[in-house]
Amino acid sequence: NTPLRLGIAGLGTVGTGVLQILHRQGDRLAARAGRPIEVVAVSARDRSRKRAVPIDAYAWEDDPVALARRDDIDLFVEVMGGHEGPAKAAVEAALNAGKDVVTANKALLAHHGHALALRAEAQGRVIRFEAAVAGGIPVIKALTEGLAANEIRRVMGVMNGTCNYILTRMESAGLSYAEVFEEARQLGYLEADPRLDVDGIDAGHKLSLLAAIAFGTEVDFGHVALEGIGAVTIEDIRRAADMGYRIKLLGVAQMTGRGLEQRMQPCLVPASSPLGQLEGGTNMVVIEGDSVGQIVLRGPGAGAGPTASAVLADVIDLARGNRVPTFGVPATSLRRVRPAQGAVA
Ligand code: NAP
Ligand code: HSE
Repeated sequence: NTPLRLGIAGLGTVGTGVLQILHRQGDRLAARAGRPIEVVAVSARDRSRKRAVPIDAYAWEDDPVALARRDDIDLFVEVMGGHEGPAKAAVEAALNAGKDVVTANKALLAHHGHALALRAEAQGRVIRFEAAVAGGIPVIKALTEGLAANEIRRVMGVMNGTCNYILTRMESAGLSYAEVFEEARQLGYLEADPRLDVDGIDAGHKLSLLAAIAFGTEVDFGHVALEGIGAVTIEDIRRAADMGYRIKLLGVAQMTGRGLEQRMQPCLVPASSPLGQLEGGTNMVVIEGDSVGQIVLRGPGAGAGPTASAVLADVIDLARGNRVPTFGVPATSLRRVRPAQGAVA
């Protein structure tokens, strides 16, 4: 059986999580994929840094673009992050060199997803990004495959675990936003730039990707109406609780008569609803389809194991020869629709 040969750029939380699973369970993954999955080469910033997994068996590239272009890889796995610079350059280089791409990078796809999908298609390639939205929850596959027969009416959910942690911790401990923000920082929950989390940007990236798949539209992150959680007070949370509600950073995407509405903002949700019962760093995505009705997906949205699980699901899918287009339909057929009035970032 011909192995699928990987080049992995990024050896942080996600990259080492991927290597750990391949180390421990490579045979099982090969059985699922129908062929061996082999890591050929890796790249990160600092070669001398001690990693949680041994990497001596792999070729090393200082430059992720050089890794992406290597003749001895079939698939480029981008788990570095960032929507410009090396991540974008390396993904473009991989596609130009005729490689498929698996990425966990929601920022990259929210900003450049349509252009990259067009580029991939022109090369007969696909980009897979299950890990980019809601970590371990297989929501991309649900939308592109499991629910393919449905007209999607609405997608909504809690897609940033850090914000959900902050809001639920404020509520349970009676602490202020500033106090819990500091706690989250010390626990290492916040992104290097915490505004990505608390201003709703990271969750907005994810929502824009789900909207593109759900409604067959070009990714339009620029028109997600964004509002973060920084202004939520403990008094707001208490008043909501008195009325039987909880405050969640909730994303909603739906096609309306006025155009595509995409919102990511703190909302009141009934405390007894599935969204209202969501605790800590967990994510939840609710999908409404015309035939299926409502589907609720709940699970871990971050962390090495859950995110690597999603990355490797994409790898296995490609090893099996599943060539579903990047956004579920050919990128050339994705529509550009007007944003609903008011949904302007
Ligand atoms: P991370 O722990 O910060 O790791 C980033 C890795 O990329 C590091 O190994 C770093 O090298 C490498 N890197 C950064 N810039 C580079 C460059 N210019 N050239 C070569 N290597 C470079 O990040 P992460 O948490 O694994 O996240 C990776 C991606 O997954 C991001 O797009 C993130 O949004 C996404 N994601 C993460 C999670 C999560 O739970 N962590 C969940 C879903 C999606 P050094 O180690 O040498 O510094
Ligand atoms: N900062 C993100 C979160 C990481 O808290 O959900 C996973 O995308």
